[in-house]
Amino acid sequence: MNENLRIAVVGATGVVGTEVLSTLLLRDFPAEQLTVLGSERSEGEELAYGEETLEVEPVSAETLRGMGLVLLATPADASRTLASMAQAAGAWVVDASSAFRADGTVPLVLPGFNSEALGSFKGRIVALPSAVTTAVANIVEPLRQAFGVAQVQVTALMGVSSSGQRGLKELEQQTSALLSGREPEAHVFPHRVGFNLVPQVGPFLANSPWTEEEAGWTLECARLFASKGEVPVVAGTAVQVPTFFGHGLSLHVRLKKPAPVEQARAALKGSPALKVLDTPTEKVYPLPSLVTADPTIHVGRLRSFPQAPEWLTLFATVDNAGRGAALNLVEAGLRLAGSDA
Ligand SMILES: NC(=O)c1ccc[n+]([C@@H]2O[C@H](COP(=O)([O-])OP(=O)(O)OC[C@H]3O[C@@H](n4cnc5c(N)ncnc54)[C@H](OP(=O)(O)O)[C@@H]3O)[C@@H](O)[C@H]2O)c1
Repeated sequence: MNENLRIAVVGATGVVGTEVLSTLLLRDFPAEQLTVLGSERSEGEELAYGEETLEVEPVSAETLRGMGLVLLATPADASRTLASMAQAAGAWVVDASSAFRADGTVPLVLPGFNSEALGSFKGRIVALPSAVTTAVANIVEPLRQAFGVAQVQVTALMGVSSSGQRGLKELEQQTSALLSGREPEAHVFPHRVGFNLVPQVGPFLANSPWTEEEAGWTLECARLFASKGEVPVVAGTAVQVPTFFGHGLSLHVRLKKPAPVEQARAALKGSPALKVLDTPTEKVYPLPSLVTADPTIHVGRLRSFPQAPEWLTLFATVDNAGRGAALNLVEAGLRLAGSDA
């Protein structure tokens, strides 16, 4: 155990960075061993950490000096530069962005799923999967173990916090403008998201009908499930919805053998990463409003139908910034740095 570990959280003022601080606080990580960093825009900003107040400093080689672990909760372009800078400072680096997810030289690690990948590489940077992949992998794995899984079709209904503080602000402004009878402008999202749905989250890949977000699920699941020796094809549609926090996922899973819903439910209940909420007659099922700040992924509305008994349909929710990013950052980081904090 590394009791003197110093951690820098870069992007501490952002949606994910805020959740990282909450996660570290829950684990009683000492304030005096924590440094909060951002761009020059947030220099001097004060962040509450329990009873303490931490002042944000701009990230630089100087402010990274002496850090044992650097958690990057920054946009991908910033992470590319900052990961090298943090490595040069001798720190372990875990990155929440998409910068290294497709890089075969950087392990893609989902703590609790393929944590063993942390022990078998020579570099100092670890990439984390997206929030949607975090949820899909955790839901599919117990089904794969019980029945085998051939294919997963996903529709992800993504809250605007997936686009960070700017996404939150845009939905707030658009909702307020629309309720006042004004037509708002769209800056962060390609169309108005207030009282609307937009079937595009982030940019499209060059010369492709898939967005980077959607293509990411396929690639990240292929990387993660390779460690299990059985790779289901995962593909789907990302939809921006006018909620603030939490993603909803409609999943259609093609199992390798037919499974009664009761057996599928039992398999899902056996996973500590999941909470099964599935009593529809009592209006009990996953809701984004229920999953905020919950480290488990909620699963419910399990259904199959006799004409296609190998298909299982379900609905799930995940706290995108907390469970889908911050928890992974902290768990992978502490394990890498050899701390039990
Ligand atoms: N939000 C989610 O649900 C989610 C889930 C999984 C992964 N992620 C990934 O996590 C990362 C952070 O997302 P977010 O939602 O927290 O975004 P955000 O709310 O926009 O926060 C971004 C943070 O990065 C900092 N930053 C930006 N450019 C920087 C630079 N050049 N140097 C240092 N700091 C810089 C910002 O600091 P300033 O305040 O100083 O600008 C801010 O603290 C992204 O890569 C995102 O894709 C997000």
